[in-house]
Amino acid sequence: MLKVGVLISGRGSNAMALIEAGLAHNYPARVATVISNRLEAPGLRFAHEAGIKTATVNHHSYAGREAFEREIDARLKEAGAQLVCLAGFMRVLSPWFTEQWRDRLINIHPSLLPAFPGLDTHKRALAAGVKFAGCTVHFVRAELDHGPIIAQAAVPVMPGDDEAKLAARVLEAEHKLYPQAVRLIAEGRVNIFEETVFIEGALAPVATLFNPVL
Ligand code: GRF
Repeated sequence: MLKVGVLISGRGSNAMALIEAGLAHNYPARVATVISNRLEAPGLRFAHEAGIKTATVNHHSYAGREAFEREIDARLKEAGAQLVCLAGFMRVLSPWFTEQWRDRLINIHPSLLPAFPGLDTHKRALAAGVKFAGCTVHFVRAELDHGPIIAQAAVPVMPGDDEAKLAARVLEAEHKLYPQAVRLIAEGRVNIFEETVFIEGALAPVATLFNPVL
């Protein structure tokens, strides 16, 4: 059973999706702890109510990024985390941290990376007029929203979409994609070769999607 540590800053809906996935007896991972840098993060309360060990590590309480990250690192190790999932964690991690957890640290980002890294992804996707949006789970490297891609989900951009509608559609996909990516890792099927991910026994979809439909 793979022990997972989840880092959040806010709502925590992806953290909850991971916690809920772990309730199934045939799921090979369990969330061991949820750590937030903000005390008022709603996700912390939900995780606590679900019986998960939670902690707040407030970045304002530390002299610098290194001390803050060392505390997070210590809490993760204390909980026995073998994999760390960033789920709406709004602090940029240093190369020290990303190296500590290299290939054991993953993130979910609400775009089809490498398109639209950073903030305001849905707004920028709409402004660019793309016909597909989506989300990406990837291994974390020091560069923001960058690293070997494990899995992606594509969702159509619909006529009349605004940021909120598109974000909600993508978020629904995130809640399925993140637990699936963690499952693949927990099953030992995810390999990285020359910064590209290969997944044993993974099937790619057979159909091409057209938007608008032909
Ligand atoms: C998600 O859209 C995730 O992709 C991004 O931040 C958001 C976090 O949402 N990194 P939640 O806190 O998991 O609800």
